Amino acid sequence: MRDAAAQSIAPVLLDWYDRHARALPWRIPPGSPDTPDPYRIWLSEVMLQQTTVAAVKAYFSRFTTRWPTVEALAAAADADVMAEWAGLGYYARARNLLKCARAVAARGGFPRDRAGLQELPGIGPYTSAAIAAIAFGHPETVVDGNVERVMARLFDEHTPLPVAKPVLTELAAGLTPMQRSGDYAQAVMDLGATICTPRNPACGICPLMAHCAARAAGTAASLPRKTRKPAKPVRFGTAYLGQRQDGAWLMERRPDSGLLGGMLGWPGTDWSEDSPPETPPMPADWRAVPGEVRHTFTHFHLRLSLRVARLPQDTPGDFIERDAFDPRALATVMRKAHALGVDYLRSLEAP
Ligand code: ADE
Repeated sequence: MRDAAAQSIAPVLLDWYDRHARALPWRIPPGSPDTPDPYRIWLSEVMLQQTTVAAVKAYFSRFTTRWPTVEALAAAADADVMAEWAGLGYYARARNLLKCARAVAARGGFPRDRAGLQELPGIGPYTSAAIAAIAFGHPETVVDGNVERVMARLFDEHTPLPVAKPVLTELAAGLTPMQRSGDYAQAVMDLGATICTPRNPACGICPLMAHCAARAAGTAASLPRKTRKPAKPVRFGTAYLGQRQDGAWLMERRPDSGLLGGMLGWPGTDWSEDSPPETPPMPADWRAVPGEVRHTFTHFHLRLSLRVARLPQDTPGDFIERDAFDPRALATVMRKAHALGVDYLRSLEAP
């Protein structure tokens, strides 16, 4: 694309954004006299990493109702934040969220530039650019999957991802305007989410139609190209759902580092490709639950067998009282295990 053509992209997109910006709970609509709250921008952008806008909306609203400021979040108990995050996945984000909130509260507010932001826990190149642009108006280039797709198509770039990433970032940087950088960043992401979609892009109504090299070449729907990822392996494991006579559940908090770190869960075996030997947390009349829980993580598929047992009231161990137990506070795989296991446990005792 020639320089002059590149210079006209931002005005065209901003004009489109003024008319078609999605209404999102964390967003200041274009033209509004309000200034964005860095806390809400930060929180939404952390939630939006790896997670769809549709899934994030309800979580964002619960978090900001319960913790309206970064100081309020900084003062929250770890377990409460992990429980509110349950179901969003990638739990390291929640642990870093809390660390970051505490660091920001301690220094008296968010740093305003990208370098300062990036020193905070859990804030990488994407989030630092998004906050600097959207909350503070800095002309930073925000690159997520939407932006990569829009750039690959605008410039008809056929190098596959992830190799193409630096190339697409450079192309995106060349289009970022000095003014309204936050609106511009959100405009590119909205275009990618609503028009320049992965499948069946709506090129016929795209504001950038006349500028798009892939549209001219007829290659838009096949871009961006991606190097095929290796298939995910299957891992196996067993989890133990033990319930005391008074309804309390035997549970454990997982170590902070590693998969589902910091989350409450059912005791069980390691998860590995060769079915690990059974290791009940204590001797009891453990019954095998018919079927299994299936859940897909980033790097593997899990097939989890379940055992259930009633435990005597004087069983030693860490129990969550019946009234304090809420399956919604569990990671999705653990919630699935509860749903399957509790039904079977009840069926064993049905008259
Ligand atoms: N995806 C992630 N952050 C976004 C934002 N601020 N606007 C639109 N889509 C997004």
